[in-house]
Amino acid sequence: MPQSNESYRNIREKLEGREKEYRLRSLQPIAFRGSKTSADIGHSTFLNFCSNDYLGLSGHPEMIRRSNEYTSDHGTSSSASRLVSGSMKIHHRLEDKIAALYNSEASLVFGNGFMANTSILPALAGRGDLLLADKRCHNSIVQGGILSRATFRRFRHNDCNHLEEMLKRHRGNQKNNCWVITESLFSMDGDFAPLDEISALCRQFDACLMVDDAHAFGVWGKQGLGMINGKEGVDLGLGTMGKAGGCYGAFTLSSAVVKEYLINYCAGIIYTTAPAPSQVGAMEAAFDLIPNMGNAREQLRMNIDYLSSGLSDLGYDTGDSRSQIIPILLDDEQEALGLASRLFNDNIYVQAIRPPTVDSSRLRITLSALHTSDDLNRLLEVLKHA
Ligand SMILES: Cc1ncc(COP(=O)(O)O)c(C=O)c1O
Repeated sequence: MPQSNESYRNIREKLEGREKEYRLRSLQPIAFRGSKTSADIGHSTFLNFCSNDYLGLSGHPEMIRRSNEYTSDHGTSSSASRLVSGSMKIHHRLEDKIAALYNSEASLVFGNGFMANTSILPALAGRGDLLLADKRCHNSIVQGGILSRATFRRFRHNDCNHLEEMLKRHRGNQKNNCWVITESLFSMDGDFAPLDEISALCRQFDACLMVDDAHAFGVWGKQGLGMINGKEGVDLGLGTMGKAGGCYGAFTLSSAVVKEYLINYCAGIIYTTAPAPSQVGAMEAAFDLIPNMGNAREQLRMNIDYLSSGLSDLGYDTGDSRSQIIPILLDDEQEALGLASRLFNDNIYVQAIRPPTVDSSRLRITLSALHTSDDLNRLLEVLKHA
């Protein structure tokens, strides 16, 4: 196949552009040794500070056992969309379990969080409707907003005055759908959203609220079930399982009528194969384990305090992070790549996150309950001399 036509030329040009700007991304083959805090890259072993497996659940024997058991009992695939023949009893049982845990009217399981966000927003809003999302919301929310064809606007990060201004300006007296969307714990900055204030504004302006709880699930909130657990005023909560959940998938919490609506209008439910039994088994095990993992959460909190104060003693700027996601904010792409590569030379793996993923370049350090104090000291020691 000759790769010389206009499309190929454009592809190459765009890649060259990324490279010139120090923004080229590439895939790094990696092998984990049980815990995600240790990884083999090439022929060396690295200390890993960029996994989202915050509780170390992905290697938990019960997660593995349940996932294997579900595969043995139900096969490797659900084999059809939920609306065809893929709505297996195990999916219904899992959703009932999640809804009961959260005391929510209903829950709906998705293949993953990206698919959920990109398909839920276009289901909830269309032409003439209004979506207002925090400026630092995850790309899946941005994609969902664009796909929806609604008026999609972003308010300044965690700025309720700006949100109020936007609600006043765009909401007016119109009666069309209006949803405000925020993350509870921001994935690249590690800071929390002012959920109560946002929810009060939604009530004042008769808007609905959707909260993406991807990074809080498992770690924060009552029983570690996220910031949306028991939170009044959230019309649609989204949890993802690929972070502290230690597996893969996503789930919503909502009223029964919103669930029924999504089953009828959400492309990410209708036009995709239902989650595989192995995935359902692991999700179910995660929901059994997480509420009882208070000790792991306590350890994670100690790790957060220790590393955050160590970084601040070294003069690093970690922004408003208050969580297991700790960015080291840097001036530009080159500086971020340089610092990541200095750590890499010392067998410490931390990703440099650069535009367009974020507005400003940074190293994004993520902590696990399984990181030891030796691990944290090693990271701090290398950063001290970097
Ligand atoms: C805030 C947020 N929402 C959604 C997603 C997507 O979730 P998943 O990894 O399950 O596709 C991510 C993860 O990348 C995320 O950080």
